[in-house]
Amino acid sequence: MKRVLSGMRPTGKLHLGHWVGALLNWIKLQESYDCFFMIADWHALMSEYKNSSNLKEYIFDNLCDWIVWGISPKKSTIFVQSQVKEHLELFMIFSFLTPLGWLFRCPTFKEQMVQLKDKEINTYAFLGYPVLQASDILLYNADYVPVGEDQLPHLELCREIVRRFHFIYNKKIFVEPEAILTKTPRLLGIDSRKMSKSYNNYISLDEEDNLIEEKILSMFTDPSRIKKEDKGHPDICNVYSYYTVFYETKKEEIYKACSSAEIGCVECKKLLVKTIKNFIAPKREEKKKLLKDKDYIYNIILEGRDKASKIANEMMGKIKDLIGLL
Ligand code: TRP
Ligand code: SF4
Repeated sequence: MKRVLSGMRPTGKLHLGHWVGALLNWIKLQESYDCFFMIADWHALMSEYKNSSNLKEYIFDNLCDWIVWGISPKKSTIFVQSQVKEHLELFMIFSFLTPLGWLFRCPTFKEQMVQLKDKEINTYAFLGYPVLQASDILLYNADYVPVGEDQLPHLELCREIVRRFHFIYNKKIFVEPEAILTKTPRLLGIDSRKMSKSYNNYISLDEEDNLIEEKILSMFTDPSRIKKEDKGHPDICNVYSYYTVFYETKKEEIYKACSSAEIGCVECKKLLVKTIKNFIAPKREEKKKLLKDKDYIYNIILEGRDKASKIANEMMGKIKDLIGLL
């Protein structure tokens, strides 16, 4: 079976955007690949080192979301990056052979430096963010890496690191990993901007019913629909885009009803509220129970650590040997 590896940074709660953009895809991949799903806590610290007090809480919280939404510890290896020490060892090795120019030129680095000004990420480690990511992937020789489009430059860099390593040490021991791009449409936040923690415009995967209602009712709709008799344009309405993701069997009916002004925006939103409540509530309740069962969660983390460590350790042995380390 071909291997897949992906990770998420535990920097906050997971929301519907994570489900559409990543989790849904991961859940499907488990059926046909040997999947490794990693909580990227070192990567989280690279930008959140000053607010690390809730890191542990987010690690547990995100992990529980993964599980209740369908990432199965039986099918996949679920682990925490910092618990497998080899990630940092390989990070060191890749660090000495990665030219600074590659990192400074990386578009994500340049963008983040502008976007996250308040986080003081003009640091030594942050520059190496994609180098650690390459270590995550190559330590397990993953064939495929499901990522969002924004992460493509990191994957390209990872492939360049592979080629440079092979050239320098004159032996091919890594697989050049390929991206699996998530094709699903990007879900926008309730204010129609990108759904993101920093905009506080998200619906979390364990949102309470009253907040689901409040948030959906506050969404912008087609601005040209002032009265209910005005015909709507679902194609430009964010509420409609939620239908296309979460209530596919209803979308055509809504499309027609909106375009012919047979349905008003309030009614349309109310039906979406109901849909999203039904979608989230069972998982939310399951998660509440799971969060209380700390032993069960710890067990999953430990099992994942052991499975991942075994592979990482073997791989590191080969790498060290090749380089001339003891
Ligand atoms: N950088 C990724 C993100 O921000 C998270 C990540 C860390 C990752 N290591 C990885 C993703 C390895 C894929 C493979 O989403
Ligand atoms: Fe959007 Fe629904 Fe209003 Fe149409 S009826 S504009 S789809 S909220």
